[in-house]
Order: sequence, then C-alpha cells, then structure tokens
Amino acid sequence: MKSNINKLNNRLEKAYLGGGQKRIDRQHAKKKLTARERVNYIMDEGSFEEIGVLVTHRTTDFGMENEVYYGDGVITGYGTINNRLVYIYAQDFTVFGGSLSETHAEKICKIMDLATKVGAPIIGLNDSGGARIQEGVRSLGGYADIFHKNVQASGVIPQISAIMGPCAGGAVYSPAITDFTMMVENTSYMFVTGPSVVKTVTNEEVSSEELGGAYTHASKSGVAHKTSANDVECLEDLKKLISYLPQNNNETAPLLPFTPKEELRDVLSTIIPENANKPYDMHHVINGIIDTDSFYEIHKDYAENIIVGFSRIGGRSVGIIANQPLFLAGVLDVNSSKKAARFTRFCDSFNIPLLVLVDVPGFLPGTDQEWNGIIVHGAKLLYALSEATVPKVTLITRKAYGGAYDVMNSKHIGADLNFAWPTAEIAVMGAKGASEIIFKREIANADHPEEKLAEKEAEYSEKFANPYRAAARGFIDEVILPQNTRRKLLKAFAMLENKKIELPKRKHGNIPL
Ligand code: COA
Repeated sequence: MKSNINKLNNRLEKAYLGGGQKRIDRQHAKKKLTARERVNYIMDEGSFEEIGVLVTHRTTDFGMENEVYYGDGVITGYGTINNRLVYIYAQDFTVFGGSLSETHAEKICKIMDLATKVGAPIIGLNDSGGARIQEGVRSLGGYADIFHKNVQASGVIPQISAIMGPCAGGAVYSPAITDFTMMVENTSYMFVTGPSVVKTVTNEEVSSEELGGAYTHASKSGVAHKTSANDVECLEDLKKLISYLPQNNNETAPLLPFTPKEELRDVLSTIIPENANKPYDMHHVINGIIDTDSFYEIHKDYAENIIVGFSRIGGRSVGIIANQPLFLAGVLDVNSSKKAARFTRFCDSFNIPLLVLVDVPGFLPGTDQEWNGIIVHGAKLLYALSEATVPKVTLITRKAYGGAYDVMNSKHIGADLNFAWPTAEIAVMGAKGASEIIFKREIANADHPEEKLAEKEAEYSEKFANPYRAAARGFIDEVILPQNTRRKLLKAFAMLENKKIELPKRKHGNIPL
C-alpha cells in the first residue's frame, strides 16, 4: 500500500513541477506567473479540483517518447470564484511552450463539455507556442475540436479568454469565438502570422508588440476587450467580470443586496452644457445613474465614440450602451456599431437587461465609412438591438438625429421604456443642416442670407429640437428631470424583471455580418 501511495505522490509531485524548476524560473523572469500559480490565484482558496493531471502525450516521433510531462502542458479543472462554480484551463508554457498536442486539446475539450453540460462559465488562460510542432495535423485537429465546442457553447455559457503569453496561428481563433478576450500588457501577443512571416510576405518590419500586443488589440483591432498591467491584475479583472454574469443562458446574473438611499442625483442636472455643440463626458451620466463604482467598461480604448460595459442598478446587472459626445461627437461609425452590436448580443444571450443612453448626431459621413461598409455594420447594431428580448430601456440625454435615432434602441425597434431629458433633441437632423435644405431658396433670395438662416434655424429648433413631438406620439414614454433618472430606472428595471417574449420558431436569423 505504502509503495503504491508513494508512486502516486511521485507522479503528482512531478506533475506539479510542470516543465521543471529551470523553466519555471524562466517564466518568472519574464514577469509571468506559472499556469498553476494563475489557477490558484483566481480560484477561491482550496476550491480547485484538477482533472487529467496524469495525462501524457502519445507522440513517438522526434524522440518525444523520452520527453513526457504529466498534464501535457495544460492544467484543467473546476472550482469556485466568489463561491460560484467555474471551469478553467490554463496552458503551461513550461511544458513544450504550452503547445497544443492532441491530448492537450482533449483535456480542454473534456472541461468544455463539462462546463456546457452543467451550465457554468469557462475561463481559458492562454500561454502557448501554438500547435505542437512534433504532432502535425493531430494538433491541428485538436484546435478544430476546441473551436467547434466554442461555437456549440456560444450563448449557452459565458466563455472568457485571457491571453497571458504567446497566442499565434490557429490558436487565436478560440479566443476570437469566446465572449471576451483579456490581454496582459507587454507579455502577451496574438496574431495569425508573426513578424517574420509578415516581413517575408509584405516586407513590413513590425515587432510582436506592435503587430499583436495588448495595446494594439485593445485600441486598433478591437480583438481585446480589456487589458491589464500584469498577470495578477488580469486575474482580478476576470473575477470582477464573472461577477456581472449569470452561470448560463437559463439563469440571470446574481442580484446583489441593495438598500435604496440618495436616489435623487442632483449632479445629473449639471452635465449637459448650455451649448448643444459642446461635448461632455457620458461617463458622468453613467456614474450618476448606476450603483456607486459599479461600472465595468468593455472595449474602453476601442471605438471610443461609444461606451459599453456592465454596471449595477439597484444590485441588478445591467449592460450599458452609450454614445460618447467626447469622441467624434458620439457619431455611429463602423467600429462603434460593431462594438455595441456584439455587446448587445452578449447581454441578450445571457439575460442581462440593456440600458441605452443616447446622444447621437447621426452616422459618420465619408468615403472611408461608406467603402468600409457602414451600411452593413450600422445594420448590425440595428439588428442586434431589435432582436434582443431582454428588458430594454432608453434614455435620450441630448441629440437623437436621423436613422441613428431609430438604431439607438428606439421604441419602434422594441424598447420597453423610452425616457428623454428636457434637453433632448429628437429630429431628422440638426437645426442648421435642416434649415439649409428646406429653406434653401428662401435663404438664397433673402437680402441678408445669414440672418435668414439664423431665423429659420431658430424656428426649426423651437419646433423640433426638443423631446415633445416624440412624447406627443408616445415614442417617448416620459420626459424626466435628470435628477430623477436613477429613481426612474430602478423602478423600470424592477418592473421589467419578468419580461418574456416568445419568438417564432426558426433556425437562426441572418444578422448582416
Ligand atoms: N511545439 C513544440 N514545442 C514548442 C512549440 C511548439 N509549437 N513552441 C515552443 N515550444 C517549446 C520550445 O521548443 C522550447 O522548449 P524547451 O523548453 O525544451 O527549450 C519551449 O517551448 C519554449 O520555447 P522558446 O522558443 O524557448 O520560448 P520563447 O519565449 O523564446 O519563444 C515562441 C516563444 C512561441 C515565440 C516560440 O517558441 C515559437 O516561435 N514557437 C513556435 C510557434 C509556432 O510557429 N507554432 C506553430 C504554429 S501554430
């Protein structure tokens, strides 16, 4: 008996050392935690249960039969984060550079299957040199198995990826399919082909960091939803993100205890500038509405003309989509439409109510936008908000012009409650542009065209630059005082809690991709 126990302990001891102390030291020297340290950090203390710790690869080419490590470069298992069940896999760079073999992939698939069957989020901590070169197509098959399972699990359980080292070639497509991708600054990168291939094919000289580092993907490509300064911060960010999400698509996010107090927020009355062309920071509106310090921003540095993120209103998880007048006057363009559409679809998949804050002068004009397909990308947001069946509430703070009025969760596309502040301007376009078109001849024939334009502009503003025509039609349910907004929204989301919509049976819609 004793010798049997020793045999097991010897094996486990080896497994816990991954690729050995030297390689662990190398990992630390790169300012990275090891896979095991990461798992232990993110999971509630003592909660992690490992599955497949004694799995080994089956390769015999290139002398691989002599180089065998327990676990085969990935730690898989389950545990709890803040007492809620979560599945996890963490690639171990100290074993063959965390590269993905057939058995490594099988371990990940096993944990994905469990997560999907049971209905709990899965987190993937990626740190890998890609396909296990010694295995060839078997490892490529392993990737495809994972991608397929990612797709099957999409919209069923939250799937979150953290990139905490290399992630290149085929490896990038699992994170791309998952709901959120976090990246660690300076130690992680993602690309389909690395700098040396880029140099050969396009003759461009580019570093790994510039091509696919955290900053690049957070600001230029939008591939990364959030970046963190180091491993620990990234793991903390993951924990926080999970706290806003339900376990699966049949549940709702945890409702935190909430005692109403100071729900009148005077600060909201001071945010909109007198001059309608002056910008302001929509974050001030968000912070004035939500539970204190509860905003968790997604895609903060990408398409900054729209803000998306999770918050809590009365302890309830609410997804916020908000035009940001500080950037490009808050217009909708290709990137902001894509960003908001994807966020909308996540929230709708996982029963998270939506709050849409509107201050939008329209869609961004220009050849760049048209040639890059603003028509199709704008349609994504329109489609996503239209399709969403979760509680949907809109607040127009200032401008809601043209087609963008329709797109931004208007009553017409299924919003449940539409509020406007008295500062709202709901019209086909701004007063100046409108006057220049409809009073063109009158202005041209006037003795003083400038004065005539100003006169017509004032007339148009008086008629249309307000929320009252829309309120008269019932397109706006209520024009509210800014300081009352939080109170109204607390009641609105509580009232909408049991909203149910039965959709006609179909395989799936055909969102313009
Ligand atoms: N398959 C098998 N082993 C791999 C591997 C892979 N894809 N990628 C890395 N490794 C091994 C290395 O042989 C090395 O082994 P060792 O510890 O026994 O020396 C270990 O992982 C660490 O790799 P190393 O190159 O020393 O680390 P690095 O930090 O300097 O570089 C990479 C990391 C990922 C940039 C580099 O390893 C690399 O380019 N890997 C190949 C990437 C690739 O083309 N993958 C296949 C296509 S998806």
